[in-house]
Amino acid sequence: MAVFRKKKSSGLSSELVLPEHIGIIMDGNGRWAKKRLLPRSAGHSAGAKVFRTITRYCSDIGIKYLTVYAFSTENWRRPKDEIDSLMKLFKDYLEEALRDFKDDSIVVRFIGDKAPFSDDLRQLMLENEESSRDRDGMVLNIAMNYGSRDELVRAVKTISQEVRDGKLSVDDIDEATVSSRLYTAGQPDPDLIIRPSGEYRISNFMLWQAAYTEFVIMNKLWPDFTKDDLDEAIRLFNSRNRRFGGV
Ligand code: IPE
Ligand code: IPE
Ligand code: MG
Repeated sequence: MAVFRKKKSSGLSSELVLPEHIGIIMDGNGRWAKKRLLPRSAGHSAGAKVFRTITRYCSDIGIKYLTVYAFSTENWRRPKDEIDSLMKLFKDYLEEALRDFKDDSIVVRFIGDKAPFSDDLRQLMLENEESSRDRDGMVLNIAMNYGSRDELVRAVKTISQEVRDGKLSVDDIDEATVSSRLYTAGQPDPDLIIRPSGEYRISNFMLWQAAYTEFVIMNKLWPDFTKDDLDEAIRLFNSRNRRFGGV
């Protein structure tokens, strides 16, 4: 874990330890819209703005890895008009990111199965990954059509195939073998996962990687989430005693 480096003004004390990897389950857009008698799509637009602000802030304060849960493998169960508005929002964001973030230091990665997305969205995802690959700043994993069970099934299939092809022996399979077949291969596990919207569940997010992650549940809906809330989550993280099974 890195020691906190105060790059830009934030409400955090320089004594605090900064989580190296933060995960955020960006939840509560629909309820935010409902409270305002707006369509759910308005909640997603408001959530997308907060995503931009919080991503920039995490990069500014020196977070090394940020994983945001944007769309789960189960979210396809939603009504078609909601899915359509989400896909439009993803497309707008990815076009904007390509256009406006040329001088940025953030490395963009997508975790999840890209196959079900439209050709143009998949192309934008690939272009964003490709154009940011050689940057040296924060790694931003955007979890889209991500489900941890799906990720683990894929890892099991890959490993089985390698065993069948004689490239891997069953006796050599260990935890590192599994970790390195996940979308997050080569990245540290999340130290902190934040879930706004007050839900006490993981909703198929990073089941393997979160074995020893600290959870912070916040009673704010994602579109209301602020930099101060992120600071608060980091303070709470610092108050935890992580034992990893030891004493
Ligand atoms: C999170 O907000 C966004 C996605 C899952 C795509 P929700 O849309 O789940 O908002 P609530 O939970 O219904 O309020
Ligand atoms: C989790 O939120 C997925 C994302 C935030 C992308 P959901 O709203 O889909 O989760 P549940 O249905 O409340 O568990
Ligand atoms: Mg939700």
